[in-house]
Amino acid sequence: MDTLQVIDSRTGASYQIPITDGTIRAMDFRAIRTGPDDFGLMVYDPAFTNTASCRSAITYIDGDVGILRYRGYPIEELAEHCTFLDVAYLILTGELPSPGESGEWRNRINRHTMIHENLKKFMEGFRPDAHPMGMFVSSVAALSTFYPDARDVHSGASRQLQILRLIGKVPTIAAYAYRHNLGLPYVYPDNRLSYTENFMNMLWRTAEPRYEPDPVLARALDVLFILHADHEQNCGTNAMRAVGSAQTDPYLSLSAAAAALAGPLHGGANEEVLRMLDEIGHVKNVPAYVETVKAGKHRLMGFGHRVYKNYDPRAEIIKRTAEQVFAVTGANAKLEIALELERIALSDEYFIKRKLYPNVDFYSGIIYQAMGFDPAIFTVLFAIPRTVGWLAQWQEMIQDPEQKIARPRQIFTGPAVRHIGVESLKTAGAGI
Ligand code: ACO
Repeated sequence: MDTLQVIDSRTGASYQIPITDGTIRAMDFRAIRTGPDDFGLMVYDPAFTNTASCRSAITYIDGDVGILRYRGYPIEELAEHCTFLDVAYLILTGELPSPGESGEWRNRINRHTMIHENLKKFMEGFRPDAHPMGMFVSSVAALSTFYPDARDVHSGASRQLQILRLIGKVPTIAAYAYRHNLGLPYVYPDNRLSYTENFMNMLWRTAEPRYEPDPVLARALDVLFILHADHEQNCGTNAMRAVGSAQTDPYLSLSAAAAALAGPLHGGANEEVLRMLDEIGHVKNVPAYVETVKAGKHRLMGFGHRVYKNYDPRAEIIKRTAEQVFAVTGANAKLEIALELERIALSDEYFIKRKLYPNVDFYSGIIYQAMGFDPAIFTVLFAIPRTVGWLAQWQEMIQDPEQKIARPRQIFTGPAVRHIGVESLKTAGAGI
């Protein structure tokens, strides 16, 4: 077995730490002590930049060369040959479905697309201009009150049922949030349509008896959903696993994951990209904007990634999908600004040195806007497919015998013990 030899210069003691899968166990450092009263060494890793929190068989990323695979299949092949629901099946079960399994899987999800009328009423209570992500997070959490059986997280049958319910219901909640903002009546699901077509139906159907989605746009949405379905231990997935590790039910855990996704440094970046392109306004303003980024005034939204230090393979596929969408919708005027921004940034020393490339969010917002979505709903469009990844990671965590409640340590930096005395009472509050 490979080991790491550690010599503690405080005591001169030597330790052999086992190396497995290129990793050492943080708990092995606890044995390194200066004496019996010493707690033992801890490892310090704010933001988990070099800490593996789990063993996972779902998604593989090699950020240095731009590789993304679900269960071993390259993202490029899945985006080209599969439907989103088949990819969801793959992510959750480990295998792509046979044609028979695919049909059965779709039927099982279709049985759960409706939401309780009381949840609809709950959503009606939001302000007309409520942010769709706030509505999404709260409504998913509210589902927990409709399904108390979900608390039995150790029952495989219960987990399966909640997984079907959540995958079936998140597009309905997302569409209702969208229609709520527009003041339009909610449209019930139409289960004769595919997953993404039905979502489009719930978003855009008006007075026509049957909604017929544009096949190019439906396929583009399906591809975007495939690209966003999972991405190993990102901020939202870490939230799903951390909250779920307390045996919290999957609705509440998933709402926590979606709350993490809402942040502008995470899934909220696609909305920010559009705001940034609006602020730039014209191609001629791009060089000056890039200078303000380099001066540290703000970040170039949609650029950079914690893991990808080469290109983000999803951004490449999205760029191609954009061309198909624009052939139907007409080009988004912001595309020209985005292309120029990418061109200048990719040839600038600041971005090259820091390995900053366009990420998945750089072009997705431009496509969504061309399809007719308001930027405020972009992150909800991300949360629908990511629901699949969150659930797969949650299930894997629950079944992993090594996992228990997530509870990091800290380095305490506050005052050592002190006592309340007459003198300290006299000066209390002086610092406020
Ligand atoms: N624009 C300008 N500079 C940047 C950017 C950016 N978008 N991203 C990183 N940098 C710079 C930092 O200022 C830092 O520079 P320094 O070394 O001179 O201090 C260096 O690059 C490293 O940055 P970190 O913040 O350490 O990188 P980290 O891996 O922690 O951050 C993140 C990754 C959060 C994605 C970051 O690149 C960022 O904020 N990007 C913009 C927001 C964004 O697009 N988020 C979406 C990510 S994809 C997703 O979540 C789905």
